[in-house]
Amino acid sequence: MPRAPYNPMGTTALITGASSGIGAGYAHELAQRGADLVLVARRQDRLEALAVDLAEKYGTVSTVIPLDLTAGDAVPELVADLTNRNIAIGTLVNSAGFGTIGAFVHTDAARQLEQLRLNVIALTHLTHALLPDLVDTAARHPHAAALVNLASTAAFQPMPHMSVYAASKAYVLSFTESLWYETRSTGLKVTAVCPGFVDTEFASVAGSTTPYRSLTVERVIHSTCSALDRRVTPPQVIVGKRNALLARAVVLSPRRAVLSIAARRH
Ligand SMILES: NC(=O)c1ccc[n+]([C@@H]2O[C@H](COP(=O)([O-])OP(=O)(O)OC[C@H]3O[C@@H](n4cnc5c(N)ncnc54)[C@H](OP(=O)(O)O)[C@@H]3O)[C@@H](O)[C@H]2O)c1
Repeated sequence: MPRAPYNPMGTTALITGASSGIGAGYAHELAQRGADLVLVARRQDRLEALAVDLAEKYGTVSTVIPLDLTAGDAVPELVADLTNRNIAIGTLVNSAGFGTIGAFVHTDAARQLEQLRLNVIALTHLTHALLPDLVDTAARHPHAAALVNLASTAAFQPMPHMSVYAASKAYVLSFTESLWYETRSTGLKVTAVCPGFVDTEFASVAGSTTPYRSLTVERVIHSTCSALDRRVTPPQVIVGKRNALLARAVVLSPRRAVLSIAARRH
């Protein structure tokens, strides 16, 4: 596979959801590759501890911006903050997200809407605001700019009892793949990352007590970076061979069978 290693050294990467799990994993990887970082999530103490750790390990300069991305003015505020600090973003990792479990009718409507605001609206708004910076970085520093959006294997089929989450991730996958095409001549590396279950705080936030066979955060980061290091980054990365096979099988299977198998997972 022709390679063009992703090298963000000397540029700045913004990671949402950096206080935990997969987002924190990307922060370590990008810091190791020489990027300065902007770390965004609500838990300031976690972000500050991460910034100290990254500075000690890799000499990384991190800017911590505690923010609730579901707030109506969060993205304009964040962009204004970046402008005031004179920070241009070369890589955007949209990792902030959560899921909810339960039959839709019994779930809390406010929580479902909050999920859409984070997984879909904030991701779209932030991508729209920063895409010109990303494309500009790609033009000036070949192989240094990337857009990484966290979708999920939930994007490939409807999921009874996680209906809104699966629909939100189907959106992220479709949206990101379209952007991959629209920006393909710019040098920007664009991909939607689709892991299955990963061992993070995700399950407890979603309210799950079921033990799943989980991927590690390291595996997600490794698969993402293998994709970013390719000369042509693929529009989607499915993490894990079994997950890739299942995603392909879903396309060929009758929809009712897919629904009944997906429903058994919760
Ligand atoms: N773990 C899995 O099984 C799995 C599988 C497939 C896809 N994914 C996707 O991967 C991404 C990362 O999930 P994860 O596994 O790393 O879960 P996680 O450990 O729960 O991390 C979620 C991150 O999102 C942030 N966040 C939540 N609400 C926020 C808000 N209102 N404003 C700003 N930040 C917010 C959290 O930080 P604060 O609480 O500090 O705000 C945290 O940093 C998500 O998009 C998820 O859907 C996860």
